[in-house]
Amino acid sequence: MNSRFLLISIVSTLLIFLPITAIHAASGGPHQIDIFGGKQGKVPFLHAKHQENLKDCTICHSVFPQETDAIRKLKAEGTIKPKKVMNLQCIKCHKQDKRAGKPHGPVTCATCHFK
Ligand code: HEC
Ligand code: HEC
Ligand code: HEC
Repeated sequence: MNSRFLLISIVSTLLIFLPITAIHAASGGPHQIDIFGGKQGKVPFLHAKHQENLKDCTICHSVFPQETDAIRKLKAEGTIKPKKVMNLQCIKCHKQDKRAGKPHGPVTCATCHFK
């Protein structure tokens, strides 16, 4: 094979795959996740932004593991109650920040859930 062609192939492969790996490695998990929200509709969630703001993974992951669809699985096997993560993590924190007059996440149904 022509060495120039080989070099171009390697460089373009790196250009395509490096940013993807970098985003994943830097944030520890996906940047954005559509959390399963049952009948109410999915909950689009900026994972990376929360990681940056909160620093501590255990704020959320002490209740569910760092795995795809972890919350839905735990609810299905009865380990955690439906809406527990929503009420005791998401909404609780957003309301506390709102009361404190700080930047906060959504606190109403239709600003979190989308069909
Ligand atoms: C504000 C809450 C919150 C914080 C803080 C948080 N995560 Fe997550 N993480 C989630 C949610 C919600 C999911 C999705 C769970 C689901 O789909 O059931 C998730 C999923 C994940 C996944 C699996 C993603 C997938 O689908 O493959 C990984 C890996 C992960 N988190 C790593 C981390 C790491 C590392 C940190 C700390 C740097 C962190 N998370 C901090 C809420 C959080
Ligand atoms: C801050 C975002 C947020 C807000 C605000 C919110 N939800 Fe949720 N909701 C979630 C998340 C995340 C889940 C999935 C995790 C869980 O079940 O705890 C969920 C799950 C649910 C489920 C599915 C439970 C199941 O598994 O069967 C229902 C129903 C629901 N929400 C209704 C509501 C209603 C009604 C409101 C308004 C009063 C509301 N939610 C407000 C984030 C939110
Ligand atoms: C310990 C605090 C804390 C917890 C727990 C938390 N959030 Fe947030 N969230 C924030 C803060 C702070 C902001 C506002 C960030 C900003 O505007 O800079 C935010 C913003 C948001 C937003 C709007 C912008 C964005 O980042 O997408 C959504 C949607 C959201 N949160 C969903 C959730 C869901 C769903 C959960 C539960 C799985 C959750 N949050 C758990 C603190 C929290």
